[in-house]
Amino acid sequence: MIDLAVEIGTIRMSNPAMLASGVMDETGEALVRMMEAGAGAVVTKSIGVAAHDGHPNPCLVELPHGYVNAMGLPNPGMDRFAEELRTIMPAPAPVIASVYAADEEGFVAVAAAMEDAGAAGVEMNLSCPHAAGFGMELGTDPARVRSMVEAVASSVSVPVMAKLTPNTADITAIGRAVEDGGGDAVVAINTLRAMCISPEFARPVLSNRYGGLSGPAVRPVGVRAVYDLRRELSIPIVGVGGIETWRDAAEYIMAGASCFQVGSAVGRRGPEVFREITGGLQAFMESHGYAGMKDMEAAVHD
Ligand code: FUM
Repeated sequence: MIDLAVEIGTIRMSNPAMLASGVMDETGEALVRMMEAGAGAVVTKSIGVAAHDGHPNPCLVELPHGYVNAMGLPNPGMDRFAEELRTIMPAPAPVIASVYAADEEGFVAVAAAMEDAGAAGVEMNLSCPHAAGFGMELGTDPARVRSMVEAVASSVSVPVMAKLTPNTADITAIGRAVEDGGGDAVVAINTLRAMCISPEFARPVLSNRYGGLSGPAVRPVGVRAVYDLRRELSIPIVGVGGIETWRDAAEYIMAGASCFQVGSAVGRRGPEVFREITGGLQAFMESHGYAGMKDMEAAVHD
């Protein structure tokens, strides 16, 4: 059987399938369930300095090929979530803490609290498309991104990743800012800014009006972003967006991802998707003569 183990700095994963932030990841128990179902690593719900309620309902619309959500970063705050994380340490697989803040100081505080609670890495949310003052409002300016990544990378000793927004003219400029700021990896992509309108009620469906589109519909956008980033960056890329099957994961790996995240599919089909995807990927690699994931990337990037 081909060994799919992968490392991002000191984060050692038995396989490249990670749980994406925002799906079944609010409690220690849920995170362990995903690890037991075969996730190589898990990413937590985005955590901020203080507890936050998020947007009122309705905050999720299910579509034939995805979801539009505007959760609005609901979370219990870093102190309460650090307590929760400690209950599962040492964890059977690496836990990567998704962190958000409005500025460098906030990012450093949350990242440090998560490292102290046992997180193996942090994923900076620079890409939520529907939270005023956070996420993509900070993550589309390369100078700002570099400064925030620099602040976090110089304050914690665990690997620092930054999750990028596709809602920008040139995602590679943002990726370069992460690399120049000392980031250990980029995660691409977060959701596409979107809106649903109810013709009957003649108003936007989500309470926040705007949300973010995820699921299979965004996969070609994610694959393109990973491909472009691979041609510009030296640091690892984590692919995310619409991965439901081993075939989808193979697309991201061939585009240049070292590992990948699964989100909406876990919600739709359950945690069994992790073993389905990694098992299918191994079978594909064996039948097509790929010794490792880098060979798959090399086959597309000449
Ligand atoms: O909780 C949230 O609303 C997160 C959103 C995102 O990062 O896309």
